[in-house]
Amino acid sequence: MRDVAVIGVGCTTFGEKWGTSFRNLFVEAGGMAIEDANISGETIDALYVGNMSAGRFIDQEHIGALIADYSGLASEHTPSTRVESACCSGGLAFRQAVIAVASGMEDIVVAGGVEKMTDVDTPTSVDALAAAADREWEGFVGATFPGLYAMIATDYMNRYPLTREQLAQVAVKNHYNGARNPIAQFQHEISIDTVINSSLVADPLRLFDCSPITDGAAAVILAPLERAHEFTDTPIKVLATAQASDTIALHDRRDISTMDATVAAGDRAFKMAKLERKDIDLVEVHDCFTIAEICAIEDLGFCKKGEAGKLTEEGVTALNGKLPVNTSGGLKACGHPVGATGIKQVWEIVKQLRGEAGKRQIDGAEIGMTQNVGGTGASVAVHILGRA
Ligand code: COA
Repeated sequence: MRDVAVIGVGCTTFGEKWGTSFRNLFVEAGGMAIEDANISGETIDALYVGNMSAGRFIDQEHIGALIADYSGLASEHTPSTRVESACCSGGLAFRQAVIAVASGMEDIVVAGGVEKMTDVDTPTSVDALAAAADREWEGFVGATFPGLYAMIATDYMNRYPLTREQLAQVAVKNHYNGARNPIAQFQHEISIDTVINSSLVADPLRLFDCSPITDGAAAVILAPLERAHEFTDTPIKVLATAQASDTIALHDRRDISTMDATVAAGDRAFKMAKLERKDIDLVEVHDCFTIAEICAIEDLGFCKKGEAGKLTEEGVTALNGKLPVNTSGGLKACGHPVGATGIKQVWEIVKQLRGEAGKRQIDGAEIGMTQNVGGTGASVAVHILGRA
């Protein structure tokens, strides 16, 4: 296998983007990544596009071909593949692109992700998202994603010492970081009171415990590490790519407060990178709901089960903490255009490792990690990236 590097990144602003289309969002992000990678004269060998549900959100399928066409690659007949794994679609598109380059089959590859969710109303969007759960056992009886993660939060809070304030602090921290990220959907700080007094969505989760509904796209360019310096002085090496699956329905899990797929993918990634937890300088985790960030920190092995709330309260995961988590603002403040999120996580880590993260820069960051989740944890992708 060849070593693989990220040589360019691009990301649109996230939010309610009624002035643009799905296809234009992707082209905007892809264009930024191509410019960033200085590859305008190069042949793009392949595209992998993460997208969860364009069929439900904008009534469009055949996304791989659509994106190749509007990226100007139809005349080159460039292979383009849609990757779908619910909210983990972006993470898995990145992984497929890494595998393609590592195998030697392809050299210059685009990994992207795109979702346009706000063209439909909230109930339609919530139902489209619910298709990532088990429709027969969960969706048909009314379980939505806020409802399913509320069950995880209830179970967790019954078994471990997590306070309402500690849970709220996850959102407070991520809004603080989002306020320092020019692409974030929410660029304002909030207090614990804002979270605790916001409207109840699914007990105990309130509005500010939830990621929002978002439009956005992100793209990165991959190349063999041995060629990376032809294009950039700051290539970022892919140190590990890992993926794991679990039961699709929550009730079939061994333990609903532990994402075993995160545990498995995390362990595989650390083994592949030959690194330990203490080597990670920052991590982007899948905080689709505040409780998901608490579980992710523990399931990736950064602390014992039941300790992430205290860690959050003590500021360990804050921008100036020992292990900054979700410096981008996470899904909570940056927004969660589901197919694009996994690529945006890679974008954030690359920006940080190149020292280009502006007001949210982690000084001297050398190694970063991403954790991207599909559904309630039926699919998980974990990546580790480092300065080359
Ligand atoms: N956090 C903070 N504020 C939010 C928000 C969120 N998650 N979602 C919406 N808002 C704000 C809006 O900006 C708007 O503010 P304004 O009145 O100042 O403009 C206000 O709340 C109402 O927005 P609206 O779009 O009407 O909210 P909604 O009630 O339709 O949707 C949720 C709120 C929580 C139902 C929706 O965001 C949701 O379903 N989130 C979860 C998405 C999800 O499940 N993703 C997949 C995870 S696996």
